[in-house]
Amino acid sequence: MATVDCAGLDALRAKYADVMRGAHPDSAYKYLDVAFHTRQKLLLASRLGLDQGPPRRVLDIGTGGGHFPFVCRFFGHEVVGIDVDDPLYDGIAACLGVQRTLVRVRPNTPLPALGGRFDVIVACNTTFNDKEQGPPRTYWSAAEWQYFLDDLLDNQLRSPGRLYVKLNKEYRTDAAGRERLVYNRDLLDRVARNGAAVDRRHGMFEFSLAARGARPADKARSSSRPAHRLRVLSLGSCRVHEPLAAAHGLGTIDYQNRRFARGRPVYLHDVQEAIQFVRLVRGETVMPVDLRPFAYESGLRPDHGMALALQQAECVVVEACTDKHYEAAGWTLNINEIHRQLVVPGGRPAEDWWQTIDAGQRPSTRLVESVEAELQSRWRTRRRFGAGHRRVLRELVFRYQAMAEIARGLDRLQGLLARPMLVVPHVAVRQPDGCFLAERLQHVAKTCQAASTLGLPMLDPRQFIDRHGQSRVLADGGSDFHHYAADYVPVVGCEIVRALREIV
Ligand SMILES: C[S@@+](CC[C@H](N)C(=O)[O-])C[C@H]1O[C@@H](n2cnc3c(N)ncnc32)[C@H](O)[C@@H]1O
Repeated sequence: MATVDCAGLDALRAKYADVMRGAHPDSAYKYLDVAFHTRQKLLLASRLGLDQGPPRRVLDIGTGGGHFPFVCRFFGHEVVGIDVDDPLYDGIAACLGVQRTLVRVRPNTPLPALGGRFDVIVACNTTFNDKEQGPPRTYWSAAEWQYFLDDLLDNQLRSPGRLYVKLNKEYRTDAAGRERLVYNRDLLDRVARNGAAVDRRHGMFEFSLAARGARPADKARSSSRPAHRLRVLSLGSCRVHEPLAAAHGLGTIDYQNRRFARGRPVYLHDVQEAIQFVRLVRGETVMPVDLRPFAYESGLRPDHGMALALQQAECVVVEACTDKHYEAAGWTLNINEIHRQLVVPGGRPAEDWWQTIDAGQRPSTRLVESVEAELQSRWRTRRRFGAGHRRVLRELVFRYQAMAEIARGLDRLQGLLARPMLVVPHVAVRQPDGCFLAERLQHVAKTCQAASTLGLPMLDPRQFIDRHGQSRVLADGGSDFHHYAADYVPVVGCEIVRALREIV
């Protein structure tokens, strides 16, 4: 930091002081906090392995104030930072001694030659994909992203090489007509299908070109990859899908869930959900249409890709990450979907209804009707209050599954799948006071016991935590009890693959 022109930065802060006071905290002026943003980019450099090793060529697309080139240069790399003309960013970059190369990224237009290929390409907090024609705001289409990524992979990236993208959120209108800022999930799904390691929560994806001359999507044709990549299907939550997608991106497995038509892996929690999923995909049972949205995200439409994935997987990773079981009319429903479809839009009455269900009690007719009235008043013009809502409100029942029921479920699933199956429980976590989260520990113990009773192979994530510590393994410095830290996801992927190789 000794090389930074601090007087110049002070002058810039003074120049923009008035406008900064009225500006949104997330506006471009935040980049005047050079210490903070340099630290962020240091973390990125370390994530990409740029804090060690030989000098590399790096391209930073939409470089802004040049914080990332500043950090890369410190580690001895050659960096090209491209951006559009902007006095604020120009001023910051000048204070950091970084040169910005003026190149505008345009849809369906290749980047110009930038002095040769790059070992690492970064596009961080992207806004070039914002068409700024609003309102409503419009963003790049799937085809425009595909063009951009193809151009980078074909014409700008070396192999081996890494392409890292961190998206900005986009404005989208949700089902209730509210405008929300969300990551482009379709894009994240699409790149995951093409072999990128994806962190959906943080809107990041990364392609690693390991094999010379091969694009990630073309890995199947690469001669330098192992002759056989294990075909792995995953039935569980993001804690197994994301690591396996990362392992696929690294070329170690062939992650079968990528074949699902909508590109979403389908999130399952309770072992009964997994059994039902397998039977639905195989056409052994048909779920009433009105109940499907309460069982699977956007309602499950079994497709050919799912059937093929089930048929061709050589082994299956099954995450049984809850002992909570929700059921209506004999169908297993999903806690998150019930919450999303009924509890969130249903306001206070729905919260009372939910508490009643979770206490294992039957809700009164009056309570059910008050939830219905609330939902109908909200959806009068937007969405039809359907038979499914009525049915779930009246018929939903809840129970904790005992260890024996989970064991019966795993046994049945093993029979249905008839191939090696690796059981993964949820992560046993410690609270800030050092004690294990009791509720979590309870179902982790049940799952482990059920698997060992049946002699099924198991991978308990507790071993990662014992080895590397909760603060490194889990997101938000260990305080997010549901998600692995973005840079730890590939480690989990390697562990799962190692465990699978022992059983296949
Ligand atoms: C949110 S800033 C991110 C800056 C930097 N990547 C970071 O993470 O600190 C977005 C950057 O993209 C640049 N940008 C926007 N549209 C662009 C385009 N069409 N071509 C190149 N850069 C663009 C903006 O000027 C700005 O510097």
